[in-house]
Amino acid sequence: MRSIFLIGFMGAGKTSVGEMLAERLGYRFIDLDQRLCERFGTTIPEVFESHGEKAFREAEREELVRCADGQKLVVATGGGAFCSEKNRQIIHASGGLSVFLDPPWETLGARLAGDNAGRPKYGDAAQARRLFESRLPDYRRAMRVVGLAGSESAAAAADLVLAVLEEAPCAT
Ligand code: S3P
Repeated sequence: MRSIFLIGFMGAGKTSVGEMLAERLGYRFIDLDQRLCERFGTTIPEVFESHGEKAFREAEREELVRCADGQKLVVATGGGAFCSEKNRQIIHASGGLSVFLDPPWETLGARLAGDNAGRPKYGDAAQARRLFESRLPDYRRAMRVVGLAGSESAAAAADLVLAVLEEAPCAT
């Protein structure tokens, strides 16, 4: 099977589900935001603050290219990464499989209301919801969509992803 790129909004569980999924598949796990923190030697809010979103997005694309090298990886992308057509091309041209983790807004909104420090794209609940809705058409361009209730554990959500992959497998 090919590399899997988890996409979706902030709070969708891309990192926690990605870690479980990588374990289940025996793939290496990469968290793109983590890579960016290491690259800049600081936190994401600091990168936005000191370098600006443009520099963040450029670095995000470069790190994505580094991940899209055909290795067997599970990559948790940041919530904005798949909203760039160029980034979608990088993922798909590498043979990567994009998987949209899709819990309902109510789950995302509740999670973000309780945990939004470190998320520079989160302003308040209404703004976050508008951002989520504006990004949905891009998220829906993913090759697979995994509907989540939002109440599952990361392990259960990883099993749901695996079930979707098995229903519609992608040979390498
Ligand atoms: C962003 C989401 C964040 C991070 C950055 C920008 C976004 O990742 O990449 O703060 O534009 O939605 P998470 O989705 O992992 O929170």
